[in-house]
Amino acid sequence: DAATYDGSMWKEIYYAKQLDSTNLEAKRVLLEGRGAEPGAVVCEQQFSGRGRRGRGWVSPLGAGLWMTLVLRPNLEPMKASMLTLVAGLAVSRAVEELYEIPATIKWPNDIVVHGKKLCGILTEMTTEEMRMTGIVVGIGVNTGITDFGEELREKATSLALEVAKPDEVDRLMVFRAVLRQFQSCYEQFMQTKDLSLLIDDYNARCITVGHRVRVEEGASAFEAWAQAVDAQGELLVRLEDGTSRTVCAGEVSVRGV
Ligand code: BTN
Repeated sequence: DAATYDGSMWKEIYYAKQLDSTNLEAKRVLLEGRGAEPGAVVCEQQFSGRGRRGRGWVSPLGAGLWMTLVLRPNLEPMKASMLTLVAGLAVSRAVEELYEIPATIKWPNDIVVHGKKLCGILTEMTTEEMRMTGIVVGIGVNTGITDFGEELREKATSLALEVAKPDEVDRLMVFRAVLRQFQSCYEQFMQTKDLSLLIDDYNARCITVGHRVRVEEGASAFEAWAQAVDAQGELLVRLEDGTSRTVCAGEVSVRGV
């Protein structure tokens, strides 16, 4: 009953105890025409969780909320990546609605609490005969008490590690809040097919804005000041020589300096 709030747009929730990846399952649902959209896939454990840039995503049992939104929007494929920012804003709002912790956004789409990553988002498309037929938005929120291991300990966090009362972290509640907040952001996004109605709140939550960033574009890299995110989801930066340009999320990786 996660999606049964008043006015819910969600037509189908697919739950599984275990999956390779909710993103992979969501793409199979679309390609096989198995369900009704908009929908969501959610599971307890992923044994092949996927991250951005071909990386994996550690997704053990009880450690997090592993979910993917299954959408068939009437949208140009060029605009699909904007849904990543829509989802980031929705998760930030959902976390702040439920818990007294600041859930900031690292452009384009990491949710960061006290400098550590709480949530990652991976948006993918399905294509059939060269046409985009659907979009899946994968959201991984760390919720439990997990030992992330040496490599991630300094970089990752979870709701249970951040809130005052870890016992009160309830994955179903987080799931429901994310679905509700996403719907509200998504409806505003689809009105204009860009982020113009959402971008002020996005910028207010975005820790990248106002900071120095290092932009890595393939083999070359440069440093700049991040000024704002625009309604297309691009990051506006000012370079050393005073000129400005935009940086597009798909092409670059931005690290705080
Ligand atoms: C990132 O690299 O920051 C993105 C991580 C995305 C992880 C989520 S968990 C649910 C969904 N299923 C996946 O396989 N990946 C996404």
